[in-house]
Amino acid sequence: MDRRAGTTAAVKTKIGPVILLGAPGAGKGTQAKLIMQRYGIPQISTGDILRDNVARGTELGKKAKAFMDKGELVPDQLVCDMVADRLRQPDCAQGFILDGFPRTVAQAEWLDGLLKDEFFEKRCAVPPVVVNFQVGYNQLLRRLTGRRTCPTCGRIYNVYSQPPRVADTCDVDGSKLVTRKDDSEEVIAERLKAYERQTLPLIDYYRRRARLREVNGDQVPDKVTAEAFRAIEIEAVAGRPSPVPKSRA
Ligand code: AP5
Repeated sequence: MDRRAGTTAAVKTKIGPVILLGAPGAGKGTQAKLIMQRYGIPQISTGDILRDNVARGTELGKKAKAFMDKGELVPDQLVCDMVADRLRQPDCAQGFILDGFPRTVAQAEWLDGLLKDEFFEKRCAVPPVVVNFQVGYNQLLRRLTGRRTCPTCGRIYNVYSQPPRVADTCDVDGSKLVTRKDDSEEVIAERLKAYERQTLPLIDYYRRRARLREVNGDQVPDKVTAEAFRAIEIEAVAGRPSPVPKSRA
């Protein structure tokens, strides 16, 4: 086993909850998939779960749709209930990646309570690592307007920076790529306003709790990934307790 692989195996057991912060288009979804592959913990994208509910026409989807179409945040209670259901699934017992949650101070406070009551004492004893991807405004606009997604496998492309080999076609499964409905210029502007007003205060929230790790998201994806892995692993080896053994879960 090479040294790098050995190190990764050793820290892997110490990776608990990972929270990805960043503006719309900062690269949270792109990086979450790579973090998931490396550490074997599930990606929980609140945006993806909400879009799936909208597509299936569930009660939650019907309530969320009007907010999402306008680029506004879905009310806290709806999203928190949805996240609680997901985090109680067995695959989240040792760790998970929250992509797009929390997004308000109320959501962050609610999450702290849930982790304390349901995780630290019973399942995963590791406090969350919060990674904030910093990207400039113009770059965000370019990324969001250029984004295309595969409706089958969820792979994310960008017509400017990460185009598919054949235009509008997924490299993995040949599906026709789609543009997200909220990636229109008008809705993007509202999403960025909602981010500044409601989500930006979370940077201070987590900084004050000494949980925040800043990552320069304005670099080529591989470099962003390397910085994110480093940030997560530094936290993991900084004397954190091991996850609670399965027999105590
Ligand atoms: P959500 O789906 O979470 O959208 P978002 O936060 O706006 O984030 P995005 O998915 O747009 O961007 P991303 O950071 O994941 O970037 P990506 O990796 O795709 O939320 C949608 C809606 O759902 C919200 O508006 C709200 O209504 C609702 N919602 C969700 N969560 C909620 C919550 N907690 N509370 C209330 N409401 C909630 O990358 C973007 C593009 O850039 C891609 O094309 C990619 O290929 C490209 N790219 C990525 N990295 C790089 C790089 N390093 N260099 C160049 N290009 C790159």
